[in-house]
Amino acid sequence: MASGPFNVNEFQELARQALPKMYYDFYTGGAEDQHTLKENVAAFRRIMLRPRVLVDVSRIDMSTTILGYKISTPIMIAPTAMHQLAHPEGEVATARAAAACNTIMILSNMSTCTMEEVASSCNAVRFFQLYVLKRRDISAQIVHRVEKNGYKAIVLTVDTPRLGRREADIKNRMVAPQLRNFEGLLSTEVHTDKGSNLEALVKGIYDTSLSWEDIGWLKSITNLPILIKGVLTHENARKAVEVGVAGIVVSNHGARQLDYTPATISVLEEVVHAVGGRVPVLFDGGVRRGTDVFKALALGAQAVLVGRPVVYGLAANGERGVRRVIEMLKDEFELTMALSGCPSVKDITRSHVTTEFDKP
Ligand code: FNR
Repeated sequence: MASGPFNVNEFQELARQALPKMYYDFYTGGAEDQHTLKENVAAFRRIMLRPRVLVDVSRIDMSTTILGYKISTPIMIAPTAMHQLAHPEGEVATARAAAACNTIMILSNMSTCTMEEVASSCNAVRFFQLYVLKRRDISAQIVHRVEKNGYKAIVLTVDTPRLGRREADIKNRMVAPQLRNFEGLLSTEVHTDKGSNLEALVKGIYDTSLSWEDIGWLKSITNLPILIKGVLTHENARKAVEVGVAGIVVSNHGARQLDYTPATISVLEEVVHAVGGRVPVLFDGGVRRGTDVFKALALGAQAVLVGRPVVYGLAANGERGVRRVIEMLKDEFELTMALSGCPSVKDITRSHVTTEFDKP
């Protein structure tokens, strides 16, 4: 019998076996009732495909271009915090896997390896995910290092003025490890009697007052393109374009922030319509199959980001595990394109899917 894992979900079970419960719960968990967590995945299952037959699919080209960077497939690596809890090589291993798969990794501001270590260990195109801190001077220093180390864009996460209530972390008394991008700048050792220290950490260092006006400040300190991550409504999508962002990431933070936000795939089209092609729209939340990638592209995303599956691959087998996860999604996506009659990503259109909102 061939040996697995055979799909991304089977990697989750390997991660569960590999990790202490506290870390596994941290990676898998969502906010409060975890309703949105389930919906992010379930909403994909309610979208059906409308394949076209008798199309020449002898050659399938999955490649696409994001902000001018050509990648082999529209599957990117989402920023997720603290990879060394999953594997000793941490974000360095993840970045090497991104390079091997010729895709883009977005490094989390809350990484356990420094942005310098990641930059010097691989030649992947890298973006950097930023949280703006109360200490703007420190954020400015971080942005300066991001530029110096060859990161090609800043992905500003805007859905986390406070940390969502993740009950598993509170019960498990989950404590953040050293977050080395802040080394020498800021202490991230926060003590609390509330179980986990994550909430207090976020409250202590992130700028809760951040507003649309501050995008101007960020633009004034960098020439890098700025993408906004965490948009779920047409109102905010229009506003983001108005303030001059280079791209939007439709995301509910993997359902870890505000429970009872809709599944991201169910609001993607609303955002895409509001943006009207003025900037690229990326998407994340619940991507577990190549068909999910196809569905997101059909609804107007330029590429998807993958969060938890990458961490599961890392926990199961380091760099090779991450590579395998990306390759699996890539292979499934390629097959979906072939069976749907779409030889290239530009052939994937709205008419290749039906959603529950479509009229009969
Ligand atoms: C995240 N996410 C996240 N986002 C961000 O902007 N900065 C961060 O540091 C983190 N950290 C983080 C840790 C963990 C363990 C998870 C699961 C997620 C959110 C992430 O970028 C992405 O939006 C979701 O993970 C996408 O959903 P899936 O693919 O996990 O379903």
